[in-house]
Amino acid sequence: MSDKKTGILLLSHGSRLDDGEEVIKAYKEMYLEEFPDAIVEYGFMEIRKPGIPETIKKLSENDLDRIIVVPVFIAHGLHTKRDIPKLLGIESDFDEESVGHHHHHHGHDHGHDHGHHHHHHHDHDEEEVHFDGEIILTDPIGIDKRLFEIIKDRVSDNL
Ligand code: NI
Repeated sequence: MSDKKTGILLLSHGSRLDDGEEVIKAYKEMYLEEFPDAIVEYGFMEIRKPGIPETIKKLSENDLDRIIVVPVFIAHGLHTKRDIPKLLGIESDFDEESVGHHHHHHGHDHGHDHGHHHHHHHDHDEEEVHFDGEIILTDPIGIDKRLFEIIKDRVSDNL
């Protein structure tokens, strides 16, 4: 532990449906139950508000030294490797060449075009992140036995 004043952003993808917000909001509340003094917010990388710039702005009103951003995604992908660092205004070691030239705007696995819908539907995406402290982007959820338990439950509940 350090004495740096830290804010936490639980970052979800964003959807037009409410389900994702219910989930990420519940995790925020669970976090606060366990750490009542935590400065924690949830936000969405696209499609839904609050977006990244406005969430960082809200957190930064607490005079923070740093913000830890947890992408609540199962695995790394273009969003976590490329899009989220870009939106946060932080360095990324993402190599565009690694996905090939034709995948930049078409390689989405969930059928929306990130390159364009931002500007059509979300004026908040035009904002940029302004934060004087450090922004730390963590790994996504990844491979974990605790998650595997849930996968097994989903199957067994339906046997
Ligand atoms: Ni997406």
